[in-house]
Amino acid sequence: MIKIAIQSKGRLNEDTTRLLADAGIIVGAGHRQLISRAKGFDMEALYLRDDDIPQAVGMHVADIGIVGLNEVEERGLPLRTVMRLGFGACRLSLAAPKDSGYDGLGWFDGRRIATSYPRILSRFFESEGIRAEIHEIAGSVEVAPAVGMADAIFDIVSSGGTLLQNGLTEVHTVMQSEAVLVAPHDLDPEKEREVEKLCFRFRSIIDSRGLKYVLMNIPADRVGAAVAMLPGMKSPTVLPLADPGWSSLHVVIRESELWDKIEQLKQMGAQDILVLSLENIIR
Ligand code: PRP
Ligand code: ZN
Repeated sequence: MIKIAIQSKGRLNEDTTRLLADAGIIVGAGHRQLISRAKGFDMEALYLRDDDIPQAVGMHVADIGIVGLNEVEERGLPLRTVMRLGFGACRLSLAAPKDSGYDGLGWFDGRRIATSYPRILSRFFESEGIRAEIHEIAGSVEVAPAVGMADAIFDIVSSGGTLLQNGLTEVHTVMQSEAVLVAPHDLDPEKEREVEKLCFRFRSIIDSRGLKYVLMNIPADRVGAAVAMLPGMKSPTVLPLADPGWSSLHVVIRESELWDKIEQLKQMGAQDILVLSLENIIR
């Protein structure tokens, strides 16, 4: 049985349980438990603070973990990023008060910056040749300038709402982050095989997100033109109908292009268009 460390509450918790559920793995919601036995996969879920997940995996308390790349980088432990999971996108940015007169990275020289990510920040400042005072604080970094604890902050930005509420402006992005699956370098081979099974399921779900399966009837003499404008994984599937003047066309279309493509297909004479959701793609 493998143990997976996941965030007990916070930005990644919901998306993590959803990814697991889509992969046929049901775990508890986590808010109150520490450990739960999963249904649908021989696995135990360990609920932790996101900040503690890299260390838990590094110490083999858990075999794998789902956590933000930002936390992995900050801990600086020798972990392996097995897979990017396509959710929890955010960035780590420097932000200064709106009226700070910020005029480029040199502005940070000699200033006090509050952050929960001192390691990533000091590496960045070093690479830029900036000498700033880094003050590590555990939470509510965004209030530090207002209470006089810092001149600027370095923190996670997602929607940007927190900065706006606190009168801060994002002035420089240092790193992009998202949820990742991490493992130690020396996982035993049996567990490694379980992790591969898990990744296979995750991959098929991630690949299918944002895709629709579209079926339609279309005049046979328009099939060539329709195929030319459609993506399809290899190429669209074309099946003859009983009426020789008509064909059935099946194709996978990205959600962002869906309505555009459907309008073009209708203009080509397509009828009876069915749009279905895709759950998995096994390549
Ligand atoms: C982060 C960060 C900000 C907020 C930014 O905290 O510290 O408070 O999210 O998000 P926004 O740009 O959408 O407003 P998070 O909720 O991840 O909690 P934690 O850092 O304490 O784990
Ligand atoms: Zn955190």
